[in-house]
Amino acid sequence: MSVFTIEGCHPLSGSVAIQGAKNSVLPILCATLLSPETCVIHNCPRLTDVEHTLDILRHLGCQVTWEGDTVTVGPSKLTCCSIPDTLMREMRSSVIFLGAMLARLGQAELSYPGGCELGPRPIDLHLSALQSLGAEVREAGGRLFCAGRLTGADIALSLPSVGCTENAMLSAVAAEGVTTITNAAREPEIVDLQNFLLTLGADVRGAGSSVITIRGGKTLHGGEYTVMADRIVACTYLSAVASAGGEGNLRGVDWRLLSTVTSVLTEAGCRVESTPDTISIIAPRRLRGVRPIRTAPYPGFPTDAQAVVMAALCKTDGATVFVENMFDSRYRHVDELKRMGADIRTDGRVAVVYGVPRLYGAKVRSTDLRGGAALAVAALGAEGESTLTGLGHIDRGYADLAGDLAALGAKIVRKEEK
Ligand code: EPZ
Repeated sequence: MSVFTIEGCHPLSGSVAIQGAKNSVLPILCATLLSPETCVIHNCPRLTDVEHTLDILRHLGCQVTWEGDTVTVGPSKLTCCSIPDTLMREMRSSVIFLGAMLARLGQAELSYPGGCELGPRPIDLHLSALQSLGAEVREAGGRLFCAGRLTGADIALSLPSVGCTENAMLSAVAAEGVTTITNAAREPEIVDLQNFLLTLGADVRGAGSSVITIRGGKTLHGGEYTVMADRIVACTYLSAVASAGGEGNLRGVDWRLLSTVTSVLTEAGCRVESTPDTISIIAPRRLRGVRPIRTAPYPGFPTDAQAVVMAALCKTDGATVFVENMFDSRYRHVDELKRMGADIRTDGRVAVVYGVPRLYGAKVRSTDLRGGAALAVAALGAEGESTLTGLGHIDRGYADLAGDLAALGAKIVRKEEK
């Protein structure tokens, strides 16, 4: 079993390049199914979620190679339109394959993605969006069967779901006529997906706003694309410097995509400076509590940054209130932070973090992807040594968390334990 050992309370100093974005590369890899021609995707991070996505592409009949950070997908001959439960269970966001398979094959069969550590993960909006485009959806025994000839439609989302917006975009590309997606998610990863689809020759506009328009039915060609940097990984590393004190420089990331997080860290006492593709942070030895943090769809405070920022704000003068509005169960890291001496009270969607003078190294366990990263952030600000297990969660979204934090000057080692 792999574990991280982290020696805390050493101010950081270093520089690190930010990996490709997990939440961008996953839908882009699904979108490679839309054209029978080869696609080359650069800046593809070495994540287990990416490996699982490539396994599904291979299962569907694609030729897939992965050299360095470049993935090549040859989807000329698809041999199957069904994703087995064994592959679906590995990753909930496989539901994004629905739109791409419907677009390319006219049918798709997969199992309900089920819930995850964050609570129930319904896909009702995905299914109603696909039905608006003409797909028939049937469910039997936990399996979903979708089929139909797609035609353009007006889709109004009751909430700006990221995955549903992506599924609707991918299926609308093959739908004859014009599709508008209203109340679409505005995340930067949606813009990245649109830019990739444009590379393939699709006619998609409006990503980044609440209304996306797709003129579907065109035959698409292959293409080559470089995935954007991961803004949540950048938030994680900024929080690590804030937690440990010191300074850090992040390369290859656009600060404007995480300004809600940098403004919180600035209010807490850090100094953040940016150029078009770097972010530098200088953190004091002690932070102060900030105004309430409410997670919201982009451009609001990202739910994926809630845990790591909370970890950085455990040792502050004063308190900070968090309100988690996006998921039902996204405070699973709180009990583990309390094992390190944090003073956090939760009640439903609200968590109150009372600043404590110090945190103490402890043996802690990852509960989910961002919760696990949060424990590493807290350990960097804790006195003594911490051991972090459950790294499988972290490997889903961080290509090399230990290596990146070490590049920032952290005393962290990944090792195998019996
Ligand atoms: C994406 O998940 C991200 N995952 C999540 O990142 C991120 O937290 C989330 O967007 C919100 O930003 C990927 O992109 C792979 P949603 P997604 O659909 O698409 C409800 C991480 O840590 N909802 O925008 O699943 C849903 O229950 C992961 O990298 C419905 O009710 O998120 C949730 O409360 C975690 N019905 C809210 O919408 C639906 O049909 C937002 O979910 C779909 C969603």
